[in-house]
Amino acid sequence: MKSVISFALAVFVATSNANPITLDPRSIPGPSYDIGPASNGSSFDVIIIGGGPAGLSALSGLARVRRNALLIDSAEYRNAETRHLHDMIGYDHTVPAAFRAAAREGISKYPTATMQNGTVVSITSPDNGTTFITTDSNGQIYTSKKVVLATGLRDILPDTPGIKEAWSRGIYWCPWCDGYEHRDQRFGILGSILDVVGTVFEVITLNKDIIAFVNGTWTPENVEILNTKRPGWQQQLSSTGYNIQIINTTITSITRIQDGALVNDPNTDSEFDRFNVNLEGGSFIERDVFMTNFPSKQRSYLGTEIGVQVYGEKMIIDPASMRAATGVWAVGDANSDNSTNVPHALYTGKKAAVVIHVELEREFAEGYVTKRDGEEEEVMGVMGRDLEDLWEGMVRG
Ligand SMILES: Cc1cc2nc3c(=O)[nH]c(=O)nc-3n(C[C@H](O)[C@H](O)[C@H](O)COP(=O)(O)OP(=O)(O)OC[C@H]3O[C@@H](n4cnc5c(N)ncnc54)[C@H](O)[C@@H]3O)c2cc1C
Ligand SMILES: *[C@@H]1O[C@H](CO)[C@@H](O)[C@H](O)[C@H]1NC(C)=O
Ligand SMILES: *[C@@H]1O[C@H](CO)[C@@H](O)[C@H](O)[C@H]1NC(C)=O
Ligand SMILES: *[C@@H]1O[C@H](CO)[C@@H](O)[C@H](O)[C@H]1NC(C)=O
Ligand SMILES: *[C@@H]1O[C@H](CO)[C@@H](O)[C@H](O)[C@H]1NC(C)=O
Ligand SMILES: *[C@@H]1O[C@H](CO)[C@@H](O)[C@H](O)[C@H]1NC(C)=O
Ligand SMILES: *[C@@H]1O[C@H](CO)[C@@H](O)[C@H](O)[C@H]1NC(C)=O
Repeated sequence: MKSVISFALAVFVATSNANPITLDPRSIPGPSYDIGPASNGSSFDVIIIGGGPAGLSALSGLARVRRNALLIDSAEYRNAETRHLHDMIGYDHTVPAAFRAAAREGISKYPTATMQNGTVVSITSPDNGTTFITTDSNGQIYTSKKVVLATGLRDILPDTPGIKEAWSRGIYWCPWCDGYEHRDQRFGILGSILDVVGTVFEVITLNKDIIAFVNGTWTPENVEILNTKRPGWQQQLSSTGYNIQIINTTITSITRIQDGALVNDPNTDSEFDRFNVNLEGGSFIERDVFMTNFPSKQRSYLGTEIGVQVYGEKMIIDPASMRAATGVWAVGDANSDNSTNVPHALYTGKKAAVVIHVELEREFAEGYVTKRDGEEEEVMGVMGRDLEDLWEGMVRG
């Protein structure tokens, strides 16, 4: 691959003496993207909305190839309240804020990467995906050629007293995230009966004493749905041999009895939370840990103004490129990969960065070719083919 590129560049240099240019792409001005008086902030190759792991990963990938990129972050992270981040190799059991701080510090040494606190209120494209106008809540306006939406999801928690207070700290969302620290403890499942079997199958290697609190969702309609979607679901539950109980009584509140942040064993990575689940009628049941099946929504719907489709509360993307619309990428929890974890956020951010970099360069080269005349155009044709090869190689980044 390397020799092919050198050959192409040699041909170009040899035949373009009349109009010498340096082949460092940074010194070749790209097509103008100053879109006029509407812009009173700066112009960038790429604007990234959201500074969780997905946005930071996209920024890193762009900064490494010296793309001018601005990241704007309103700092409402999905895992903001969780004690520790898990299943992120190299950073297992790290406070999430420390993980993001380490990422920002690493990125901050790259001169073309800019990070800013703020909330984006709108993104528009006056030319259907060629340039974008991003406006923040201070009325500051920025322009860019590409947009990355790394805006994440928001969990919709029920009003039942005690749940919001213990969210991420005893009442959890994902077994991979927080199950291990609560292995072999008295386990509760919160949410609809429709999701109970799925959750049991996810946690069965961690916990045996399992009670599902389905809070009135054990209705004939839901049983009908389960019988269709998961025929034999009751037998599947009893096949575990663990006497899994389903409690249908309405939950009136959940009260914390003990805080695992204070009572824990670092030697065994165990946290000992304890709760009472208070039920209508006055009885209560003790549990140490819960997994939940509550819905989530997009944190922001900025993409709908610029051609992004949202379906099932996910931004629809092409999984090969993370592209959500012309000039727009959607990465992290918010995209329709339906995979919601930090490694996925990093992967999708990186994928988008590579595709964007190559697309920008292709657009630049195409614009450049049309400006050449006869003989030079021919040379550019040769060079273009070889650059295609180069781009294919870059996609392997
Ligand atoms: C309780 C809990 C525990 C978890 N634990 C783990 C774990 O241990 N391991 C793991 O791998 N995953 C864990 N996760 C999942 C993890 O939090 C997500 O996968 C990850 O945060 C997704 O990253 P993201 O960048 O897509 O979104 P986020 O981290 O949510 O970041 C999105 C960012 O975009 C910003 N934003 C949104 N709209 C705008 C706007 N209009 N303008 C500017 N900024 C905006 C938000 O403020 C936010 O800062 C956990 C999730 C929960 C709920
Ligand atoms: C941005 O917000 C972070 C907290 O999320 C804070 O630590 C940092 O100082 C802020 N930066 C600026 C420039 O305000
Ligand atoms: C905008 O771009 C999309 C995708 O390329 C295309 O389908 C659509 O027709 C375009 N709309 C206009 C008004 O040019
Ligand atoms: C330019 O930015 C400032 C904030 O710095 C804002 O108050 C103003 O409205 C903006 N001007 C335009 C034309 O949008
Ligand atoms: C339980 O059901 C009640 C009544 O429908 C509802 O208000 C509450 O939010 C639910 N709580 C949980 C934990 O699902
Ligand atoms: C579960 O609770 C709901 C709401 O109170 C009720 O309609 C339903 O009959 C209950 N199911 C069972 C199996 O008792
Ligand atoms: C993700 O979920 C949506 C519905 O919520 C579905 O349309 C889509 O096909 C799913 N994507 C994948 C990759 O499973």
